[in-house]
Amino acid sequence: MPTTTKVALVTGAAKRIGAEIARQLHQENFNVVIHYHHSAKAAQALVDELNDLREKSAICIAADLNNLAQINNLAAQAEQYWQRFDLLVNNASSFYPTPIGETSDDDWNQLINSNLKAPFFLAQALAPALKKYRGCIINIADIYADKPLKKHSVYSIAKAGNVMLTKTLAQELAPDVRVNGIAPGAILWPDDDHKKPVDRLSDENKEKMLAKIPLQQRGHELDITHTILFLAKNAPYITGQVLTVDGGRTLTI
Ligand SMILES: NC(=O)c1ccc[n+]([C@@H]2O[C@H](COP(=O)([O-])OP(=O)(O)OC[C@H]3O[C@@H](n4cnc5c(N)ncnc54)[C@H](OP(=O)(O)O)[C@@H]3O)[C@@H](O)[C@H]2O)c1
Repeated sequence: MPTTTKVALVTGAAKRIGAEIARQLHQENFNVVIHYHHSAKAAQALVDELNDLREKSAICIAADLNNLAQINNLAAQAEQYWQRFDLLVNNASSFYPTPIGETSDDDWNQLINSNLKAPFFLAQALAPALKKYRGCIINIADIYADKPLKKHSVYSIAKAGNVMLTKTLAQELAPDVRVNGIAPGAILWPDDDHKKPVDRLSDENKEKMLAKIPLQQRGHELDITHTILFLAKNAPYITGQVLTVDGGRTLTI
């Protein structure tokens, strides 16, 4: 029997902003599918945390978003588990510099696949179920989709495509499915675990970045999760829009 509880898939949800999105949706009574790639332990810990709060309300599924078969399998499993599907949050993302002269085919694929190709193919695979349940899609973009981040051309290109993806899907999937995006500014400093020391943000550069934000501070994960809830639950006449959540940073770029 299909569940009457709404079902959401959040990609890249084992940690950081994605994990908070999953927690918040769960608190709003969604069953959640937590997608992860490398962070298996963190994903399972989050599933356990959420299932302790409400039995059988969370699962996790691994997929490398560079692989189309795995993307399609993720979509199929996410829909089949509770036999319904209401909300796709495309949050997973690779982020690192790609200076001109030092960028490989593999860098191009990593950044474009996670930020653009996977959101498209997940939306395509889940569109029939989303139409059936009059669900919605939320794509997490970036303020750098519009004004490029220096030495991050491929990431900026991918997020610019992600913004266009929101608009094209909103047009094509209407009237049954609403599609919106969120463009965060500085929320969490990048996870430096896998970065070369030279690519890490120094404390001095962090201070410089904060000084350029009119509200004079980083945002919080809640600033993103509250916007997700607004778009998913309280915005029935909004589609094709990308909401900027950046403390005013785009005013000063
Ligand atoms: N952090 C910010 O301040 C900020 C600012 C602007 C925009 N954003 C956007 O907000 C979203 C969340 O940001 P975040 O900083 O929390 O993200 P993040 O930690 O950098 O990445 C989220 C997850 O994406 C997954 N991922 C990356 N490449 C993948 C691949 N090829 N296949 C499968 N999964 C992959 C990783 O999962 P595993 O760990 O499981 O491998 C990772 O944990 C992203 O879309 C980001 O671009 C964030």
